[in-house]
Amino acid sequence: MAKEKEELVAFATCNNYYGYWFLRNCVVHKDYRGKGIQKKLTKSRLDFLKDLNAKEVQVCVDPKNVYSLENILKSGFEIKGKKFIEGKEHLKLKKKL
Ligand SMILES: CC(C)(COP(=O)(O)OP(=O)(O)OC[C@H]1O[C@@H](n2cnc3c(N)ncnc32)[C@H](O)[C@@H]1OP(=O)(O)O)[C@@H](O)C(=O)NCCC(=O)NCCS
Repeated sequence: MAKEKEELVAFATCNNYYGYWFLRNCVVHKDYRGKGIQKKLTKSRLDFLKDLNAKEVQVCVDPKNVYSLENILKSGFEIKGKKFIEGKEHLKLKKKL
């Protein structure tokens, strides 16, 4: 979670699904976008997973979501394939921790 003056302005999650770690939803309030919050939340989730001794993490990104995709690529993820989620094509990315 990211807070500004005690107001929630962003959140992001991660989970373990059948033994695989995933970065999940990241949403930043529209008034706070473009300030590096997603980048920080990505780093803090990766640090959290490293502390849990995770060896690899995956994420699925809509290729039209250029800001998310840029952030994920800059965080060291590599595109490993495609996946359909609710009928929409997403990129599947992975990163070794
Ligand atoms: C996608 C989303 C999470 C990005 O969050 P954010 O905190 O604005 O992202 P960041 O500020 O960390 O930006 C990442 C990069 O994109 C750029 N960027 C982000 N928003 C931008 C904007 N509106 N205009 C221009 N550049 C922007 C940043 O400058 C940064 O680039 P840089 O590394 O070259 O500096 C946010 O737009 C959002 O909540 N969107 C709706 C929900 C969503 O699509 N979530 C992702 C899928 S779950």
